[in-house]
Amino acid sequence: MKRKIIIDCDPGIDDSLAIMLALSSNDIEVLGITIVCGNSPVEMGFENAKKVLKQMNRLDIPVYIGASQPLKKEYISALDTHGSDGLGESFLENVEGYQLSLTAVEFLSKTLNQERCSVIALGPLTNLAHLIEVDEQAFNNIEMLVSMGGSYKAHGNCSPVAEYNYWEDPEAASLVYQQMSKLDRLIHMAGLDVTRKVVLTPNLLSYMERLDSDKGEFIRKITKYYFDFHWEWEHIIGCVINDPLAMAYFMQPDLCRGFKSYVQIETESLSRGQSIVDAYGYHRKKPNAYVLNEVDVEGIFELFFECLLHKKKDQLSLLHKLIVKEEQ
Ligand code: BDR
Ligand code: CA
Repeated sequence: MKRKIIIDCDPGIDDSLAIMLALSSNDIEVLGITIVCGNSPVEMGFENAKKVLKQMNRLDIPVYIGASQPLKKEYISALDTHGSDGLGESFLENVEGYQLSLTAVEFLSKTLNQERCSVIALGPLTNLAHLIEVDEQAFNNIEMLVSMGGSYKAHGNCSPVAEYNYWEDPEAASLVYQQMSKLDRLIHMAGLDVTRKVVLTPNLLSYMERLDSDKGEFIRKITKYYFDFHWEWEHIIGCVINDPLAMAYFMQPDLCRGFKSYVQIETESLSRGQSIVDAYGYHRKKPNAYVLNEVDVEGIFELFFECLLHKKKDQLSLLHKLIVKEEQ
């Protein structure tokens, strides 16, 4: 039986790689993609998701438009990181012909009331916060919730202490974490502590192109801008692929390790979007999160290559030599 998922995302370069990974898996069925404003404004994210589906020959998968604004804060995109088209200035043609019958929240609500289904959240948590507001039961039905967001000990990527997805809509993130507390359940927090270690380097990209020129060239096209951004701002040769890590963890949880903790999301001022991880239990509150803090980087790329390029481990002999194991 395939595990069913909805991908809630803001594509976005690394969101697109995560979508590609999920669609390549034999063990996962993607029921739909819901778009939230984040990296790109929501309409642009919608267009980008369709471009990725076209590349993967999966235009049968429905895409739904969600929130165009965070709950309370002013919307600020991350087009400086993802390029003016949100897809690394690849300027791929739009895909026409999608009929939108439902909003993202309506789709989430309908599906989660009918199916056992997990949600992989790769953007700000605004759509999920709205779901809690309009159909709490549907939210409660989520089988496993993985969120790319937050950080435990790693420094932030859009403020000294905050990761973008939680910084962008801290009220939404806070509500989702509170709801997990109320349910006595755990959100799987795939934050910067683990994602920063997963760097797609020029060598890995070249290897990918050698193995599958079609996918490799597509990935080169959409990541070029991201490579430049990482060099300019983080002095990294390559790009950190945050969202595929969250997807890979869902597909193969033993690729990461973590710990249970109570996590609270700050909403205001200098600490806006900070995820405060009470690893030592000072607050005496029950854990509401499983916080990832260790990752098998080689294993992640092995999964990525095996799935996306349909290669067996023994056809990937060069891979382990090309992996960057430490942060650059
Ligand atoms: C997150 O923000 C976006 O830039 C990425 O798509 C990822 O979801 C990393 O902070
Ligand atoms: Ca994202």
